[in-house]
Amino acid sequence: MKQSAILILLVIFSMQLFAQPKILELPKPDRKGGMPLMEALDNRCTTREFSEKELPEQTLSNLLWAAWGINREESDKHTAPSSNNKQEIDIYVVRANGTFKFIPKGHKLEVVSGEDFRTFCGKQEFVATAPLNLIYVADLSRTDQKDYSVEPLASYSNAGFIAQNVYLFCASEGLGAVVRGWVDKDVLQEKLQLKTSQKIIMAHTVGYPKK
Ligand SMILES: Cc1cc2nc3c(=O)[nH]c(=O)nc-3n(C[C@H](O)[C@H](O)[C@H](O)COP(=O)(O)O)c2cc1C
Repeated sequence: MKQSAILILLVIFSMQLFAQPKILELPKPDRKGGMPLMEALDNRCTTREFSEKELPEQTLSNLLWAAWGINREESDKHTAPSSNNKQEIDIYVVRANGTFKFIPKGHKLEVVSGEDFRTFCGKQEFVATAPLNLIYVADLSRTDQKDYSVEPLASYSNAGFIAQNVYLFCASEGLGAVVRGWVDKDVLQEKLQLKTSQKIIMAHTVGYPKK
């Protein structure tokens, strides 16, 4: 083979290598413990004043598992139900150090961007400074809905179950949380580089409550 052909093949190979999404392993989630369920329900509430203190990686890992992790490995089913088991909700994790997509299978994060997109997650003041915004995104290509312009009602229910898991985990861990429908979806859609089949459903801001 000519040298130039080898060079072209090498370039193509390295381009493919760089095109692979960067994956970060999360610490193994702790699936035991926490507050008794009735106490967590008793403590569940919305918080809108947050400290800027970062969440430890283990807490983030546990939170994502509680939200939408796989709790039955034999069937790849989750901690929250989904209509017809379509599992179309993805959680985007927006932090100061970048934006990531939660991959429940294998409990990992896919890097979306190294930039801080928190300011694009909502107009309420606390959104840009709280350590974590979760964005619930429905990928309708995984559902039977072919017309992406129609509001995906089932996805709102499916994301609601995930949001309640987050609220209860936060109550159990002494974290504050506010689920939010008030999001500039067009701006965030572009920042997260979402496809037309992907619809932002809601956001959820999480952090330690301001003392
Ligand atoms: C679908 C939905 C959308 C919401 N959107 C917002 C929002 O954009 N901003 C906000 O501050 N709170 C939002 N909330 C939180 C509610 O205001 C809050 O749950 C309500 O005031 C009751 O308070 P509690 O959660 O402490 O019981 C939303 C709640 C739900 C269920």
